[in-house]
Amino acid sequence: MLSSTLHDITASEEQFQLATYKKMPIAAERGEGVWLYASNGDKYLDLYGGHAVAGTGHCHPHVVKAIREQAGQLLFYSNLVYSEARARAAEKLASIAPVDDMKIFFCNSGTEANENAMRMARMSTRREKIITFSGGFHGRTADAISATFLGKYRELGKPNVPGHLEAEFGNIESVRALADDTVAAIMLEPIQSMAGVRMAQPEFYAALRELCNERGIVLIYDEVQTGVGRTGAWFFAHNNVSAPDIITLAKALGSGVPVGACLVTKAIASHIKENDLGTTFGGGMLAMAAVTATLEAIENDDMLANVRRVESYLRNRMREVEQVKAVRGLGFLLGIEFHDKAAPIHQQLLERKIITGTSSDANVLRLLPPLCLREEHVELLVDALS
Ligand SMILES: Cc1ncc(COP(=O)(O)O)c(C=O)c1O
Repeated sequence: MLSSTLHDITASEEQFQLATYKKMPIAAERGEGVWLYASNGDKYLDLYGGHAVAGTGHCHPHVVKAIREQAGQLLFYSNLVYSEARARAAEKLASIAPVDDMKIFFCNSGTEANENAMRMARMSTRREKIITFSGGFHGRTADAISATFLGKYRELGKPNVPGHLEAEFGNIESVRALADDTVAAIMLEPIQSMAGVRMAQPEFYAALRELCNERGIVLIYDEVQTGVGRTGAWFFAHNNVSAPDIITLAKALGSGVPVGACLVTKAIASHIKENDLGTTFGGGMLAMAAVTATLEAIENDDMLANVRRVESYLRNRMREVEQVKAVRGLGFLLGIEFHDKAAPIHQQLLERKIITGTSSDANVLRLLPPLCLREEHVELLVDALS
């Protein structure tokens, strides 16, 4: 049985769970907006957004209300029936997509969205190979981990799915050299988050689109982190880049209720037939209510404009912090690059009750805060760093 002390909770979790995560010494109990409250009463500023999931902030009242109402009405029924909750979520998501008439496939997670995106690319091109990039992370199921050329992850997925090719992020010539007529898709995180928040030059995204058009290759943006408002637009694909053929989403899409989605163009959709894809829980009513309410909350609270304004404020303030070398990224997917190692800074911020994220770049601290973060919260970070 759990009791409320951090020590007891820790001991109990460790007794009954596999130790697959290095955890912070926090027993999370309650959340509100940018704040996370621990069971011992401590209050943390959450600049990590619960792993990039709490886009609308913790327990946004509009989302909580929608989930509560849906839970009392119908928790779940599969895709074998129609549902108003699903119809509303799909319509709302399609209405904000970067391309008109995109179709949606709902699933449960980021890795599952990517698996299905790659499968649809193979089905629609009748080709097999997939090009992804060094430093990209796409998930931990077989095909997605095989597409992940970041650190040790791909090794963990051995034996890997064949046909995955690695290109250099930002280097169009490295892609061109691999992109022959056996390649079904090029998939990328438009901002490589875990690799340390790396972005390519604008020309790179445009050149990828051109190359895909020229060679009949499907372009997939893995927007599991960059999607749903994080960059200050609904999708990275709205930031003056030519739109991809498929966008994958998860993380912030349900404000914490597990849900993933693939958005696909009409042209790709025309190749997908009944029973080609499926997943029991995809499109369940509880998740669908969460999706609609999440998108409405972002809209109602004007969070996209907030992200752009507060990003600019944060960048200005960080220029005044001596240890900060540069700020990478876009919107609220930011990498603070320090002159020294980021791990001790992450630890010291935690002691000052500020949660941030590390990355595979030892000098970069990642910020993935809720989209409702304000200037006064940035000041708390600046104070702590100073
Ligand atoms: C860019 C990206 N793609 C895919 C995934 C996998 O998502 P999930 O953990 O929901 O399977 C992640 C998870 O961190 C991610 O950051």
